[in-house]
Amino acid sequence: MEPLKVALLGCGSVGTQVARLLTAHAGELAQRVGTPLELIGIAVRTLDADRGPDVDTRLLTTDAPELVKRADLVIELIGGIEPARTLILDALSSGASVVTGNKALLAEHGPELYEAADRGGVELYYEAAVAGAIPILRPIRESLAGDRIRRVLGIVNGTTNYVLDKMDTTGASFQDAVAQAQALGYAEADPTADVEGYDAAAKAAILASLAFHTRVHADDVHREGITTVTAGDVASAKAIGAVVKLLAICERTVAADGSEGVSVRVHPAMIPAGHPLASVREAFNAVFVEAEAAGELMFYGRGAGGTPTASAVLGDLVSAARNRVSGSRGPGESYYAQLPLRPMGEVITRYHISLAVADRPGVLATVAKAIAEHGVSIETVRQQQIFEPTDEGQGGRASLVVVTHAATEAALKATVSALAGLDIVTAVVGVMRVEGED
Ligand code: HSE
Repeated sequence: MEPLKVALLGCGSVGTQVARLLTAHAGELAQRVGTPLELIGIAVRTLDADRGPDVDTRLLTTDAPELVKRADLVIELIGGIEPARTLILDALSSGASVVTGNKALLAEHGPELYEAADRGGVELYYEAAVAGAIPILRPIRESLAGDRIRRVLGIVNGTTNYVLDKMDTTGASFQDAVAQAQALGYAEADPTADVEGYDAAAKAAILASLAFHTRVHADDVHREGITTVTAGDVASAKAIGAVVKLLAICERTVAADGSEGVSVRVHPAMIPAGHPLASVREAFNAVFVEAEAAGELMFYGRGAGGTPTASAVLGDLVSAARNRVSGSRGPGESYYAQLPLRPMGEVITRYHISLAVADRPGVLATVAKAIAEHGVSIETVRQQQIFEPTDEGQGGRASLVVVTHAATEAALKATVSALAGLDIVTAVVGVMRVEGED
């Protein structure tokens, strides 16, 4: 057979490794596909950047649209919305299958890309868009196609996991941990996309769309980052045998009348130290899937980095190439369920509430009453004296830590507002959701 012509768009750390591995493993890849994969060009913004010995500079071009026209398979690793979106649409409409790692594009324009792939009779793959090297999209889309997924809990952002892990292991502040992450190259100079949860939210939208056969847009995801997580929150988590993680949570919800919905959210949460996700350290990623028949599954590995992410890209490339050789097509977009997106207020969760209170008779009862009035049940309470009353007439103060049972987010939020309004509450020191248990 004729070689399949591969165009690579973008030559950053992942693109460079894709180019290297395509050349280094050319013989084996040809065996696996059934025909050689020929890298016909690499589209870049400027020709003169130093790309090291792994990139054949004769393949470089600044004319991405022209390169796309000549390709059977297009790998898009430019990132961002434009020009990536237009180039992918052009490739799909001209009959080339596309492999991309572009989570923002998928989370914002996924349906448009899938429709273009359908019209062109070609394929769209994007395993590298979520959790780097970890095979997670294919298992959800194919291996679990006969099951019903109940929940997906993911640590899908390595930068924030590194920051929270450093805060946990060294007691560092958020700012100091981010500075360490930047020094090691885990965090960008402007870490906003990671620490504010945008990156994880795009990945959550992709995971939820596949898990629940429902179109979920990046804007549908409730998003809270880790910028407000304090060393005190991390220490409080430790005190209850938990760790703080930035979680992407995609859940199938069931209302009282039996109707199903989907909730998708990204926020920091305390999870019990014994939960498999608690052992995910440094910049690693993991995705924990709960399915009705399969039970609990955990997928773990490197969520970023040139070579690990290139592995996911090449896996997709081989799939797309094999299908092209055999004249078949893999699964397209599946959104038959179109479950309604449930608002955050309806989400069922648990809260860890840390209060500074006056230490005098009746305080605990007042706090417990305010919580009960919102229909929220207390799971544990821990009180510690901070200051004894002084002879100068200063009242005693205590720290009160309440962990609730599961309740709606709306009820828990209202509870915290009520507590903040009590005159015996000096300060609401910290509030964090507790996840990882039923
Ligand atoms: N910035 C991401 C992370 C990697 O820290 O995990 C790419 O999605």
